[in-house]
Amino acid sequence: MAFRIAPSILSADFARLGEEVRAVASAGADLIHFDVMDNHYVPNLTVGPLVCAALKPHVKLPLDVHLMVRPVDRLIPDFAKAGASIISFHPEASEHVDRTIALIKENGCKAGLVLNPASPLSFLDHTLDKLDLVLLMSVNPGFGGQQFIRSVLPKVSEVRKRIDKLGRDIWLEVDGGIKTENIAEAARAGADTFVAGSAIFGSKDYAATIKQMREKLSVV
Ligand code: DX5
Ligand code: ZN
Repeated sequence: MAFRIAPSILSADFARLGEEVRAVASAGADLIHFDVMDNHYVPNLTVGPLVCAALKPHVKLPLDVHLMVRPVDRLIPDFAKAGASIISFHPEASEHVDRTIALIKENGCKAGLVLNPASPLSFLDHTLDKLDLVLLMSVNPGFGGQQFIRSVLPKVSEVRKRIDKLGRDIWLEVDGGIKTENIAEAARAGADTFVAGSAIFGSKDYAATIKQMREKLSVV
């Protein structure tokens, strides 16, 4: 299994974002996770397409855009133009989930659906075959630095089963409270892509932290 590590810029120094993404890229990151919050769907406000476009020239890695906004559709073409590779959204924030998935793909990006800790897996019943990524939240969305919610692990296993049954290359990403201490547990449950904000950007040596995470993953 190929494992991917996606540092979340939410915990980066926003006054030096270009430098920060270059630093995690050279520290061995696989993706840059870009958290978009609107003070409406979630009680926090972060960054939009302008910042995404500004970061794009600083990094060759795919930009993994996590939309925590409602409504969703209006912003999709803007993020596609701003250089997003993957765009993920929460089904509760879209009036028409199937249409939003189609819109992401029409704009040339990979489509992901994000499920909160209490969101049912039934959201995947008629969507999984159209998705490139399922993102399972292991915290409630809105803030970095929260505690990993362990009850998400059985959900990860269940989604892994559904993906394997379908036989398509759909990434299974976990987001929230991932650290060196629990990354292997999430991988054993079936995740292949790991968002880590505070664990990476809050550490002194990004390369050492990513290396430790990969060491934990290498024995899964
Ligand atoms: C939370 C965001 C996460 C967050 C993760 O709403 O979606 O991506 O940045 O941060 P940590 O890794 O600190 O929990
Ligand atoms: Zn996120």
